[in-house]
Amino acid sequence: MSASTAFTTAIVPAAGLGTRFLPTTKAVPKELLPVVDTPGIEYVAAEAAEAGATRLIIVTSPGKDAVADYFRPQPELERTLEARGKTELLAKVRRAPGLLQVETAIQEQALGLGHAVGCAEGNLRGDDEAVAVLLPDDLVLPSGVLTRMAAVRAKFGGSVLCAFDIPREQISAYGVFDVAEISQSTDVGFDPADVKQVHGMVEKPPAAEAPSTFAAAGRYLLDRAIFDALKRITPGAGGELQLTDAIALLIAEGHPVHVVVHRGGRHDLGNPGGFLRAAVDFALEHPEYGPDLREWLRERVGGV
Ligand code: UTP
Repeated sequence: MSASTAFTTAIVPAAGLGTRFLPTTKAVPKELLPVVDTPGIEYVAAEAAEAGATRLIIVTSPGKDAVADYFRPQPELERTLEARGKTELLAKVRRAPGLLQVETAIQEQALGLGHAVGCAEGNLRGDDEAVAVLLPDDLVLPSGVLTRMAAVRAKFGGSVLCAFDIPREQISAYGVFDVAEISQSTDVGFDPADVKQVHGMVEKPPAAEAPSTFAAAGRYLLDRAIFDALKRITPGAGGELQLTDAIALLIAEGHPVHVVVHRGGRHDLGNPGGFLRAAVDFALEHPEYGPDLREWLRERVGGV
């Protein structure tokens, strides 16, 4: 299987309670909060499409229909914008529905990320040998890591995860990989030093005990075997069915798991502090809002 055809289905779990964004998430799913003017989930869907996905399964909860609605065409709105000659707005409105084919799977209760991924099994097709899983509150910048992960699966088989190299003094906030080097002569089409074999994972270890400085990020390329493993795990941290426990089970059974170290940036949209950073970062680059915001921030911060 070539790297570009490693997966065509991407799963985005979006059925969590979003408690860190209460009270807003009483009524608005956090996946739809705008980073400047575009919801985080559109960036993630675009990343999946760019990496070759043609189908997106959004795992959502009974009250969160708005997330899937966002990807449906809005013919009436489009006609109005067209009649008014608003071509730029029209392109923005059409972008999300045009990215890929969107389906939903329902997670009735927020029983954990592993459980949420398992809820998408019924949507899989016979030829889905592997699926990409993207967490919508994790923006990984610039895009492209999924394509490198697909190249690693094409080489080694099994499952491939994404890691960031974090300064050791900050590592205790993350899930940390226990890794071994692979042969530097392995040709993966990019720097093989950024590919490691995974032996295990430790959640939030004290810095001195961390097995590496490679922290987990919200991008996974998972062999279909994960769905069987998800049925065999029991509730872990927080009483939830954890995706990492199912991956650990696969590793214990000899399934190859590698990480690709992503040398880039990242925004955590899952909490207000991280979300604000992302919004400011994107707004500063925006041709319309950037210059004014930069000036205002200078004055505002200079005056503190
Ligand atoms: P998070 O733990 O970041 O999201 O899960 P959350 O549970 O919604 O947020 P808080 O902690 O209450 O503020 C990571 C991703 O997994 C999804 C979430 O929607 C989020 O995109 N998730 C989590 C599910 O779909 N189902 C779950 O049971 C748990």
